[in-house]
Amino acid sequence: MAHLVAPSILAANFANLQADCDLIEASEADWYHIDVMDGVFVPNISFGMPIIKAIKKKSKKPFDVHLMIVEPDRYIKDFKAAGADILTVHYEACNHLHRSLQAIKEAGMKTGVALNPHTPVQVLKDTLADIDLVCMMSVNPGFGGQSFIENTYNKIGELKEMIERQNTKTLIEIDGGVSDKNAAKLVHAGADVLVAGSFVFGSDDPVKTIADLKSGI
Ligand code: DX5
Ligand code: ZN
Repeated sequence: MAHLVAPSILAANFANLQADCDLIEASEADWYHIDVMDGVFVPNISFGMPIIKAIKKKSKKPFDVHLMIVEPDRYIKDFKAAGADILTVHYEACNHLHRSLQAIKEAGMKTGVALNPHTPVQVLKDTLADIDLVCMMSVNPGFGGQSFIENTYNKIGELKEMIERQNTKTLIEIDGGVSDKNAAKLVHAGADVLVAGSFVFGSDDPVKTIADLKSGI
């Protein structure tokens, strides 16, 4: 499968979000990556359902919603109603991950699980069959524009092996510090989805930057 690119709107211009969404629509981007932060699970607050609902109106591409919040089970149906297509919860925020995954499926969305840089991929061994997407954090979640953590490559290899052993269709998504410096190497290592925020929206020509990320640079 050719890899996918999901620009993170965390780095977009919040004073004119529609313009940046139009740009994503016009580009080769596959998904929107949407970072929801609660100021508790991570030391930052971003935005929630009203913003997602507002941008969903004109957007045609799937919404990949990354919840960096505690007790995500409380809001699963609300994020579905707001427009999420893939809903990612953090492993570290779920006491009953299996139950959370079933609830996401029942609500009609694809399931995602995010792993902090310190969390070994092996913790997902017994739920992998229920996970459509593993969002592997390559920075500590909470902020855009941080430097990529090199150990991510080892984790991709380990996760890929687990996926092949269990023969699941789980996608590997890399989130944090993705740029032209690591995109090709990440795809080569086994990444299926590249999230990029500041590299896309901080560039002079985001549509071209997305095209570059798609072509593997
Ligand atoms: C970090 C978020 C990322 C972030 C990536 O907590 O989950 O999705 O937007 O931003 P960059 O690409 O700037 O590292
Ligand atoms: Zn994210």
